[in-house]
Amino acid sequence: MTAILPSPRGPLSEQLIDVLQNDRSNPKLPRPIIDDPLDEDVQLALYTCYELHYRGFADVTADWEWNPDLLRWRAYLEVEFRRFLRSVTSGGDDVERTIDQLTLVPAEEVGMSFHMQRQGTWDQMLDLFKARSMYHLKEADPHAWSIPRLTGQAKAAFVAVEFDEYGGGRGERMHSVLFGDLMEAAGLSRDYLYYLDDVPGQALSNVNFMSMCGLHRGLRGAMVGLFTAGEIVNAPSSRRMVEALTRLGAPSECIRFYAEHVEADAMHEQVMRNDVLRDLIEREPELRRDVVFGVESAGYLESRLATHLIERWESTAAA
Ligand SMILES: [Fe+2]
Ligand SMILES: [Fe+2]
Repeated sequence: MTAILPSPRGPLSEQLIDVLQNDRSNPKLPRPIIDDPLDEDVQLALYTCYELHYRGFADVTADWEWNPDLLRWRAYLEVEFRRFLRSVTSGGDDVERTIDQLTLVPAEEVGMSFHMQRQGTWDQMLDLFKARSMYHLKEADPHAWSIPRLTGQAKAAFVAVEFDEYGGGRGERMHSVLFGDLMEAAGLSRDYLYYLDDVPGQALSNVNFMSMCGLHRGLRGAMVGLFTAGEIVNAPSSRRMVEALTRLGAPSECIRFYAEHVEADAMHEQVMRNDVLRDLIEREPELRRDVVFGVESAGYLESRLATHLIERWESTAAA
């Protein structure tokens, strides 16, 4: 089932949704004024633009995907989004150090999976599932855009990891389908984008970053960086999620999704580091800075989502 357009969250998303809904073939989208590129209005507008390249919306014609006015308008949002991310990340070209840092367990053990492992409740888990559904129901899709942009060993190994994410040729084993099973078993809807109106902007910005890196050839280094980083942090964080869900007596489908990632991502980490990333930076050393940008930006956006959700839960508990 294809989703319908979301509800606007501010002037930019309102303008965009109005144009898409009314099928104006010559949209007069004025140059957007962006104060905070991470604001949920901007992020919803970007998410909506990118969705036209995935499954689209039932109430929007497919022609919009390549509408030049819309693409120009989207580019303004992307430029500000990238500029902001460059301003909050340390940057540089030390790929090895940046990657090695990801394998260190933070002494203070902060972050979503640590929170869940220690004290997460079932209601919090449901909130998290809804937020994560913005990505996991299209798991591996943003990365797939990068395949034609890579060459050689990096490309072959990248595809091997994607093959696993897509269930190794078995529809019912695709990670997006396993996440759908998780949603259903948790009593939530497994429908694609069903919770788009409910999730915070922070749950859109991390997926937008993936879509942007996938859709821009110039950001292929950043895509390899964010993909590698994801695989490195996912195996241990999935193990903590398994522990949390087991403690909560969650349905087996919920545990299965994360249990699958404990094993798969430990393997994916090795392939991404040794076969994809190493080959990419040997082949195209000028991409080192972009790799670091991808790793750091993904980490920044992930921790922003975790902080937002945990603070919201804490303030609800204190009220
Ligand atoms: Fe996966
Ligand atoms: Fe993976």
